[in-house]
Amino acid sequence: MGVTKQILVIPGDGIGQEVTAWGKKVLETIAENYRHTFSFDEGIMGHVAIEATGNPLPDETLAKARRSDAILFGAIGHAKYDNDPTAKVRPEQGLLRIRKELGLYANLRPIKLFDDLLQASSIKPEILQGADILFFRELTGDVYFGEKQRNGDSASDLMIYHRYEVERIARKAYEAARTRRRKLCSVDKANVLEASRLWREVVQEVAKEYPDVETEHMFIDNAAMQLIKDPKRFDVVVTGNLFGDILTDEASQIAGSMGMLASASVGDTVGFYEPIHGSAHDIAGKGIANPLASILSAALLLDISFGLKEESQRVIKAVDVTLRQGFRTMDIANKHTPNDFVLGTDAMGTKVLENLQ
Ligand code: IPM
Ligand code: MG
Repeated sequence: MGVTKQILVIPGDGIGQEVTAWGKKVLETIAENYRHTFSFDEGIMGHVAIEATGNPLPDETLAKARRSDAILFGAIGHAKYDNDPTAKVRPEQGLLRIRKELGLYANLRPIKLFDDLLQASSIKPEILQGADILFFRELTGDVYFGEKQRNGDSASDLMIYHRYEVERIARKAYEAARTRRRKLCSVDKANVLEASRLWREVVQEVAKEYPDVETEHMFIDNAAMQLIKDPKRFDVVVTGNLFGDILTDEASQIAGSMGMLASASVGDTVGFYEPIHGSAHDIAGKGIANPLASILSAALLLDISFGLKEESQRVIKAVDVTLRQGFRTMDIANKHTPNDFVLGTDAMGTKVLENLQ
């Protein structure tokens, strides 16, 4: 029996517009093939929303988000703010606020390497092969949400964590570790930061509930190094908001490109799915962005929010087949890729749809 679901699509800024169209098309194709009923609504957020309403997260978008069963998001940000630290209203505020409002405290970032992309990474293939990491990035605490102050020539952002925030993300990470290789690495900076000492203390306590999972604690600087030195040593990694932001961009090289990585943000209510890449204004509107991270975000949505495992696997397989056929977008092509196999956004999306049939 098919399921009936309401999906909110928020393309956002820059290449978000181009790539999210393909995540949505994949969901429509899955609905058709498996006789599900997905209805779609659209919302604005980020720079486009500031331009239209003055608000990076209009009330209407938030209300639609609350009413939906899942949200597919694109990207946020605009170059014009990047070099203007004085702007008070900023696109990113929309994303941060929706994460907070919807209680999306756990950001899952699976680092999955498609075999055919071994060559696309800047890391040696023998180091990458077999790497499979699942990041749990805490998403609604840390310096991102602590008090901000500016007093003349001084500025501060409060790094703050509460016990319950660490407990709930740690539990989610441990539960996931149980379904994988039963290894969990908690990343912090407990040799320097008090917030990290609380983090470590709480993770050590939660660890007692999971004696079947091997726990390791690592400092962020060391983790950043180990990640490219020997990515295979990691299974589940759990870390705070800021460290997770940085480590997962680094980890994208393990998957070949930022253009390949999808993420799921979950917590109290509705699930939110987005590529980890940004709005990439340098290539926006050129039709060359990689749609695969959005398509893989759609796969995560099917699995995590709707429990449609088979459909989700079907999407991942279609991506795998497309790569195996040799097709690449610019970001994952290399000098050996024949010219006619380097595709733009729409041609790549079309190949994936064909392979979904
Ligand atoms: C991410 C992004 C965001 C973050 C930005 C756009 C606010 O980098 O989702 O990783 O820092 O969380
Ligand atoms: Mg980031």
